[in-house]
Formats: sequence, C-alpha cells, structure tokens
Amino acid sequence: MKFEKIQAPKGVREYLPPESQSFEWVREQLIAPAKDAGYQLMELPVFEDTNLFSRGVGESTDVVSKEMYTFEDRGGRSITLRPEGTAGVMRAVIEANLDRGQLPVKVWYSGQFFRAERPQAGRYRQFYQVGIEAIGIEDPALDAEVIAIADRGFKNLGLKNYRLEITSLGDAQSRAAHRVDLVKFIDGLALDDATKERAAINPLRLFDDKRPEMQEAMAKAPILLDYLSPESAANFAAVQKYLTAMDVAFTINPRMVRGLDYYTGTTFEFIHPDLGAQSGIGGGGRYDGLMETLGGQSLSGIGFGLGVDRGLLAAIAESTVPSQEFTSDLFIIPLGDDAKEQALVIAQSLRSSGIRTEIAFGDRALKGAMKAADKSGARYVIVLGESELIERSVELKKMSDGVTSSVKIDQLQNELLRALSL
Ligand code: HAM
Repeated sequence: MKFEKIQAPKGVREYLPPESQSFEWVREQLIAPAKDAGYQLMELPVFEDTNLFSRGVGESTDVVSKEMYTFEDRGGRSITLRPEGTAGVMRAVIEANLDRGQLPVKVWYSGQFFRAERPQAGRYRQFYQVGIEAIGIEDPALDAEVIAIADRGFKNLGLKNYRLEITSLGDAQSRAAHRVDLVKFIDGLALDDATKERAAINPLRLFDDKRPEMQEAMAKAPILLDYLSPESAANFAAVQKYLTAMDVAFTINPRMVRGLDYYTGTTFEFIHPDLGAQSGIGGGGRYDGLMETLGGQSLSGIGFGLGVDRGLLAAIAESTVPSQEFTSDLFIIPLGDDAKEQALVIAQSLRSSGIRTEIAFGDRALKGAMKAADKSGARYVIVLGESELIERSVELKKMSDGVTSSVKIDQLQNELLRALSL
C-alpha cells in the first residue's frame, strides 16, 4: 500500500539543516544584548484565552480582527494561538505578581507566533520573534536603552542597511487633543462602513491604510507629534538625546502606525529596505494602559519584538551570515562490535571535556566510513579495530595533512585537548 505524502501547512516557515544553523545564529545574536543588560527568560504558552488578545491587542487591528488562529478547546473555551508576545508577558506578570517585586520587571522571550496573513516572502503564518519587555518604570532613559538593545541585536548580525524610525504617541492628554481634530478631519472624508468602524475604535489606524486613495486622503490629516503635551514633548526629546549620546542613528517618522493598539509614548520600527514589502525587521514601544486593561495595576511598560525570519533574510541580503557548518574535532571509525562499544565510551568521555566527537555508525566498510569522516569535515580521525583494542593504542590522523601519530587510548583526551588547544 502506498501512502500519500503529507505536506507542511500553508505559510509556515521551518528551518532544516544546514539553514537551521544560520537561523539559530540569528536568534542568538538578536537576543544576546538583552541578556547582557539583565533581562531574564520567560517561557510562555503559545496559546492563551482569546480575550487576552482581543482586549490587549485591540479589536481595530488586523491582527485581532482578521489574523488570529482561534478555536474552541475540548472544554468549550475560546483559545487563540499567540499572534504576539507582549499581552502574554503582561498576563503572566500580573498572574505571578511579579509587578509587586523589584521594578522594572525585565524579561526576554523567544519563540513562534501565529498570524493568518497572506503568505509571501518574509511573511509567514508561523514566524519567530525574540523580544523583551521592561515593565513598571517610566523613564525616557529606559526607552532609549530598550531601543539601543534592539539596535545592538541588528548590529550583531553585521547589518548596515537598516534604519530605525521613532515617534511618540504621547500621553493620554496629547492623544485626546489630537483625536478631537483627527476625528473631525476623518468625518470630512467619504469612507466605507468598515473603515468608519475601524476609525471609530482607533482613528490612528487610518494612517496605516495601504490603499492609495486613503494614503492621499490622510496626507493632510493632523499629526499627533504636533499635539504632544509639554511633558510628552520633553520625554520624547530626552529619548532622542539619549539615543544620540549612545550613537544610535534614527529618523523621526510622525506617521508611523504600529499594527497593535496598546502603544503610547515612544514607538519605533526597524526597517530593512532590501526585504521588499515585508521590510519591518523589528518594532516596539511603550504601552501605558495595557496592564490595567488586563486587570492588573496601572503600570507602564516598554518592549520590542524582532523578527528572526526577517533578521535572517536581511543577513542573507547583506551577506553577513557566517558559515555555520558543524565540524567535529574527532571522527571515530569502529570496526566490529567490541570496537563499537569502546567508541561509544570514548566519545562520551571526550565530549564531556568539550571535544566534539562523532562516530561512524552502521557497520560500514572502512573505505565508506573514511569518506563519511572526510565529508563531515572532522579535524582528526581514528580507526578502532581489533589490534587497536588489544594494544590500547590508536593512530590519530590529522585530516588537513594526513599526518598520523600513535596515541595511547587513555592519552587520547589529553593529546586532543593539546592539539586542538582547547
Ligand atoms: P510587531 O511589529 O507586530 O510587534 O512584530 C514584530 C516583528 O515580528 C516585526 O517587525 C516582524 O519582523 C515580525 N513579524 C511580524 N509578523 C510577521 C509575519 N507574519 N511573518 C514574519 N515576521 C513577522 C509585536 O509583535 C509586538 N509584540 C512587539 C512589542 C513588544 N512591542 C512592545 N513589546
């Protein structure tokens, strides 16, 4: 009987060897600066109560209104695969009372996120982010540090062609003043019902409408930056001053609209122009009301999410991905059952001292096994046969020049540590 092959679901991005090594490199480079700045890991569920996102992320967003993977679980609860990380972090912080301890709560996370978008290059239905959140302190220096951490992540990838755009959505007072004029302006436009509905929930969303007629109509709309309260303006000026002091280059984009509704104050995006339509490689900002909306205290937070998939695409576009091929230090070729057992024992002990060791499995003939050793890129090879086991001595062959030397098996570890200068 012949079974049909099963394919991966549409739009998911998966990483297989050898590409997975580059993916892992990107992920680690992007998050390393956060670890260096004292952020600690948070591992969260990939599914949550649907209300977390409808309330936290906002009903006016595409993410909530069109892109959520929502289903009923076996207990009749509405569950959603997480489309983003901030709401879940906030839920966990409130639930575990972390906000009652030392502030700011500083956490990082890494993992899969899910949005039912139309798949295209750089836009997937399951994608990967690393992110951080710093919760409980309002200080423009913290805003600047969070942005600088993200920037350092992209610099770690060796990227040069990206740009950082920042803006401020101000405090409640600034947004209220702007909203009055913006709503007046929008009332003067001829809009379809769906757009009107979106504007009623969050009029800023219309700046993000990609339709050319809407872009044209919104070109004359009042801009929030012009309505900042004196405190918000001073705060935004301080963020810029700190970024400049840290040598983090940025431009101000007063028309930036993030795809999630919780943002207030400082918001930012990293754009990589080589990636075409999906050029956003990371973004984030401050969110004053989110914790309260989710039933917690009224504490502000700030954070970012960086796209690992797009980080990898950008690194490929700029040719900065280092060769990531795994090469072992030693390849052991056992001949016969006793040798196989010995090979397992030797490999285990060598690996415990940091020597990367592989074994030729499957009773292959010597010639085939040597070929495999060669292909693996291993730096040294030993053959373990009957006589080697009797003599307790092997010929250690250096693959780069073919030179061999006799080494006692119990000296192998020392000899390799020396030769590899580990
Ligand atoms: P976001 O801008 O929606 O923010 O997503 C962050 C990054 O995830 C984007 O810049 C992009 O690189 C990547 N990304 C988003 N959607 C896709 C997709 N469909 N395929 C591939 N990559 C994608 C957030 O998610 C916020 N939670 C960030 C944040 C944290 N704000 C404050 N704290």
